[in-house]
Amino acid sequence: MGQPTVYIETYGCQMNVSDSELMLGKLASAGYTPVDGPEGADVILVNTCAIRDHAEQRVIGRLGELKRHMRKGSVMGVTGCMAQRLGPQLLEKAKHVSLVIGPDGYRALPQLVESARHGERAILTSFDLEEHYEDFTPRRFDRVKAWIPVQRGCDYRCTYCIVPTTRGSERSRRLDDVVRETAGVVAEGMSEVVLLGQTVNSYNDGTHDFADLLRAVGSVDGIRRVRYTSPHPNDFSERVIQAMAEVPTVCEHVHLPMQSGSSRMLKRMLRRYTREGYLQCVERIRAAIPNVSLTTDIIVGFPGETDEEFEETLSAVREVGFMDAFTFIFSPRDGTPATRLPAELSVPAEVAGERLQRLVETVRSATRERNMTLLGTRHEVLVEREAKRGEAMLMSRTRDFKTVLVPGDATMLGQYLTVEITGTTGSTFTGSVVRERQPLPMAG
Ligand code: 5AD
Ligand code: SF4
Repeated sequence: MGQPTVYIETYGCQMNVSDSELMLGKLASAGYTPVDGPEGADVILVNTCAIRDHAEQRVIGRLGELKRHMRKGSVMGVTGCMAQRLGPQLLEKAKHVSLVIGPDGYRALPQLVESARHGERAILTSFDLEEHYEDFTPRRFDRVKAWIPVQRGCDYRCTYCIVPTTRGSERSRRLDDVVRETAGVVAEGMSEVVLLGQTVNSYNDGTHDFADLLRAVGSVDGIRRVRYTSPHPNDFSERVIQAMAEVPTVCEHVHLPMQSGSSRMLKRMLRRYTREGYLQCVERIRAAIPNVSLTTDIIVGFPGETDEEFEETLSAVREVGFMDAFTFIFSPRDGTPATRLPAELSVPAEVAGERLQRLVETVRSATRERNMTLLGTRHEVLVEREAKRGEAMLMSRTRDFKTVLVPGDATMLGQYLTVEITGTTGSTFTGSVVRERQPLPMAG
């Protein structure tokens, strides 16, 4: 018999992608071979998200589908935020699932998987405030950019959000450990890192803040692009903004979740800033980094949101001029403070649906106009992967996070190119290669 195989499927945010990489790394070092599909795998793991009901329903459906790929002796485990939130209920609901492990329990994976293969069922949902999986070697899915977790958990208490419940309290990795991991990914041939945390710019390892971290990671030899996600507006200290402005490798893009443009809604969401506070934060960032692009997250239909308040969100969107926005209809999550608001405040589904539609159109029409002005301009892009649609097309990104499709083949992955923008469709661009550059030599 060969080595047992493991397949992992990931839902939700980049932090979950990064966790999946750590889990695969851990299991690989325990003798499991990672495989690309669920068919016949000895171990199937589904790393889940709990942020909206829709995300959970998808996973429930998927668990049923994946059951078909199981054979005698194979085990299925549910990990991540939904595992943490539902715990024993998952074992009740899905009899073919034998492992339920929350975000702080992955150290026990080899041992729990082993006992599951002998027929035992287990739940592990305790938090561990020391846990950063420092000694794990992630098995990375991406060959061009590396996800680097720098902080786990969240100490904000936004009233709509399940994350503080599923990921526990905020804690930061030591700066030295992050720098060491960054140097390691350079040695593997990558030149872009994305620093991850739930409110990443509140990073503090007891000695260093996020400004120190940007400066340290940004000056690692061989690093050309540093990104981070997601910051909280209240944690943009002058130090952080200055570091961003001064460190040449830190890219000119900020994903800055706004959630609403109405101060009354923001208060009810416990975002801890007002509309004006958010707009000032945008101004401060733009003053220091004039060519920065901004993207955001917005929730519509939060309890009690009136038409006027929704209009304030639209006007804030126009005022800021986001390059793109992720837009969501409020989804009540059990156990979050928002579910305790009076029932008569809930916004009817049709109203929320219409608002989402109008919001999406407002974002789009602004981007369309701005995008047209970029035709003919030149940009440095990094080729990230093959484009899904079409043949012989590559997906690349500018420093400020614009997506540019360029002709080319897989040999060009990881290369920096200069492209001229030739067209735009919605939020993405097409481009032609102007002058090819060689990738930086490998370090070491
Ligand atoms: N309903 C809808 N959207 C939500 N988000 C977080 N919680 C909820 C919820 N209960 C959105 C926020 C956050 C993004 C990751 O998901 O906009 O920034
Ligand atoms: Fe989903 Fe939030 Fe958990 Fe990420 S941290 S997987 S977005 S619930």
